Amino acid sequence: MLVKKILMSSLLVSMMTFAGIASADISFVKTTDGSALKIDSSLFDTPAAKEFLATGKNPYVGNAEAVAKGKKIFGMYSCTQCHGPEAKGQVGPGLVGPTFRYPKDATNKGMFETVWNGTNGGMGAKGIGLMDATDPKNGITPDELLKVIAWIRSNGTVTGNE
Ligand code: HEC
Repeated sequence: MLVKKILMSSLLVSMMTFAGIASADISFVKTTDGSALKIDSSLFDTPAAKEFLATGKNPYVGNAEAVAKGKKIFGMYSCTQCHGPEAKGQVGPGLVGPTFRYPKDATNKGMFETVWNGTNGGMGAKGIGLMDATDPKNGITPDELLKVIAWIRSNGTVTGNE
């Protein structure tokens, strides 16, 4: 019994160590000034979000179900009001590319950073905890943002995973 327990715990430790090494996560930077952008890794709580955190690739691009959800979320967070119903521009710029105000937005990591933490030119931070100073639970989650980005990409020519 005791031996089993010890075996189990050492197995657990080695699994945790392995996970630690395997998840040499990508690091984010702010679109506003290029400085480090810290995002709590526990917010990446779905398989797709975890994969994005590890690789910077958005697994939802080209996934019809995720794209449909992303379109809804784009409306829920009022992105439509500024960027138009097809994300091709309204008050705010078009988001479908192939050229972007912030060239890094041609990548999914770059676009994620821009939406999460905002810009200096009129795009507010939408990430959970950043969007609403009065409510830390308000804002878009990483998984939702990846779906939104997948929908934006579905209207354009770049996938962002190139
Ligand atoms: C109040 C209006 C407003 C809302 C709401 C808004 N945006 Fe924006 N957005 C802007 C403006 C203005 C810019 C241009 C910012 C700049 O030049 O710094 C911008 C820029 C962007 C960019 C960068 C585009 C590029 O060419 O690099 C992305 C991506 C983006 N918005 C996505 C979104 C998403 C996704 C949402 C919803 C979660 C959203 N925006 C909501 C006004 C808005």
